[in-house]
Amino acid sequence: MDISNRTVFIAGGTSGIGAGLARRFHAAGSTVVVGGRRAAGLDDVGSVTVDVTDPASVLAARDEVLTAHPDLDLVVTMSGVMLTEDLRDPAHVAQAEQSVAVNLLGTIRVVDAFTPHLLAQGHGDVLTVTSGIGFTPFPLMPTYGATKAAVHSYTESLRAHLAGTGVGVSELVPPAVATAGQEQLNPNALPLDAFLDEVVGLLSQDPTPHEVVVERALPLRWSERDGTYDEMLAQRSQALASLPGR
Ligand SMILES: NC(=O)c1ccc[n+]([C@@H]2O[C@H](COP(=O)([O-])OP(=O)(O)OC[C@H]3O[C@@H](n4cnc5c(N)ncnc54)[C@H](OP(=O)(O)O)[C@@H]3O)[C@@H](O)[C@H]2O)c1
Repeated sequence: MDISNRTVFIAGGTSGIGAGLARRFHAAGSTVVVGGRRAAGLDDVGSVTVDVTDPASVLAARDEVLTAHPDLDLVVTMSGVMLTEDLRDPAHVAQAEQSVAVNLLGTIRVVDAFTPHLLAQGHGDVLTVTSGIGFTPFPLMPTYGATKAAVHSYTESLRAHLAGTGVGVSELVPPAVATAGQEQLNPNALPLDAFLDEVVGLLSQDPTPHEVVVERALPLRWSERDGTYDEMLAQRSQALASLPGR
């Protein structure tokens, strides 16, 4: 995927991986707009305020982006929340609802908002964002993993729906990356720059990669195929001991 001559909107680009990816595209020569609830004050790239849980906000952001950038040709659905839950406490449903609203419905809303533009234009790409956890659960984040598995499945269907239109569909599958507090939760999280170096390298190898999976994410992505799933899930379940009363 070319990253040097694109007009890109990254929903969820106000911090972390999305902000890092925005800087990489910008540095390579692309025009970038990031979106998020905290969009104000980002100077090096354009920004719009958007809450992906609010349908009207998504459409308003879409209109703002396309008015300023009618040649938009890449949409990245990066908005996400990574919430821990205790499934022995029914109060966890609040985290479950927020996870579904942002990670799954938010992705669907952002894709829906821009699909007519991309189809009318006859070229462009959608890049969704899942997680290694969508393929090998991390039981401390149960609904998070479920939403990422859902976005993976949705991405595969979206690709089929858009086949032959000139609009490509790709999926970024990060492992644990040292952003959004993961650096405290997981000392083995990949430093953001190392992750982005590898992502940029993988993007440049293929015009429309179905999946962008850095080396650290490969064991999670393929555990079922590799016969390591049960062992990895058991190992990853040990983090449940950090919950109160366990
Ligand atoms: N870090 C990891 O270990 C890891 C691993 C696998 C996958 N991922 C995925 O990578 C993506 C980015 O994560 P990150 O680590 O960079 O976390 P982050 O720094 O917390 O970034 C999350 C982004 O999502 C946006 N967001 C959250 N709620 C939103 C809402 N309601 N409406 C619009 N935007 C919203 C945030 O912007 P505002 O706060 O400004 O709204 C922010 O820009 C997420 O989808 C995450 O699931 C991360």
